[in-house]
Amino acid sequence: MAQLEVHDLAQAVIDRMADCKEPRLKEVMSALVKHVHAFVQEVQLTPEEWMGTIEFLTAAGKMCDEKRQEFILLSDTLGVSMAVVGIEQAKGAAALKANPPKLAPTEATVLGPFFWEGAPELELGADITGVSSGTPAYYHGCVTDTAGKPVANCTLDVWSGDGDGFYDLQKGADAPMALRARFHTDANGNYRFWSIRPAYYPVPDDGPVGGMLRRMGRHPNRPGHMHTMLSAPGHERLITHLFVSDSPYLDSDAVFGVRNSLIVNFEPHPAGKAPDGRVMTQPYHVAHYDFRLVPSAA
Ligand SMILES: [Fe+2]
Repeated sequence: MAQLEVHDLAQAVIDRMADCKEPRLKEVMSALVKHVHAFVQEVQLTPEEWMGTIEFLTAAGKMCDEKRQEFILLSDTLGVSMAVVGIEQAKGAAALKANPPKLAPTEATVLGPFFWEGAPELELGADITGVSSGTPAYYHGCVTDTAGKPVANCTLDVWSGDGDGFYDLQKGADAPMALRARFHTDANGNYRFWSIRPAYYPVPDDGPVGGMLRRMGRHPNRPGHMHTMLSAPGHERLITHLFVSDSPYLDSDAVFGVRNSLIVNFEPHPAGKAPDGRVMTQPYHVAHYDFRLVPSAA
């Protein structure tokens, strides 16, 4: 029997996939095996470090449940999520090259670990603040395609942490949904709703990923942002954020998600009549942002 040497192992694993019936899986697994072996060789991984890695991944898995996703956090904080987002967006840009759109599509960013399926469907203009802390903010704008044509009945999912930087998902097993909703744009593609001006916050750092960040000498903070997900028939789904323009950590987002085009001025206003006619008894902010979706055919 031919004995395998250390440097032959990666190729031997790849060769064992000769009967694999899934070409894409074969491609991905071959590259994964090749790079993991190259990594192990490059850092000359010790048995203690290898076991430490296994214990770290085990702890990350045990941390996960329907409300906590430690692996999304790991992917986000290592910049992998944004790399995947960037690859997908670059594909879209390449497809548009032959027929450049009039308007640039809105840039995408990470989904993050705090999306919670099943947010309430509300009427345009609703206030989703409830009992949550934070300065009120009025969000409004238009959803169009890249030719400037309004996208009516576009589903707009929005979610954020509160004024202290905490999401509902972080507030215990029985905590109800807060600061999230689904809206639908009107016939002119317009949307509007009230929420709060989101605060910067640390990603959950009480688990293995938090420990990793500390050992790497990194802070866990993200600049304040409103998550949005837009879905409309005939258009590519868009997952993105609106970042608060004067928030700390815009230059060092723990998950590398900031895009300059997504930084929005949250205009401060004194108490008084808001743009939608509502009379505010306390100061508030107005955030205006127009989204541009890529038609699916492109
Ligand atoms: Fe977030």
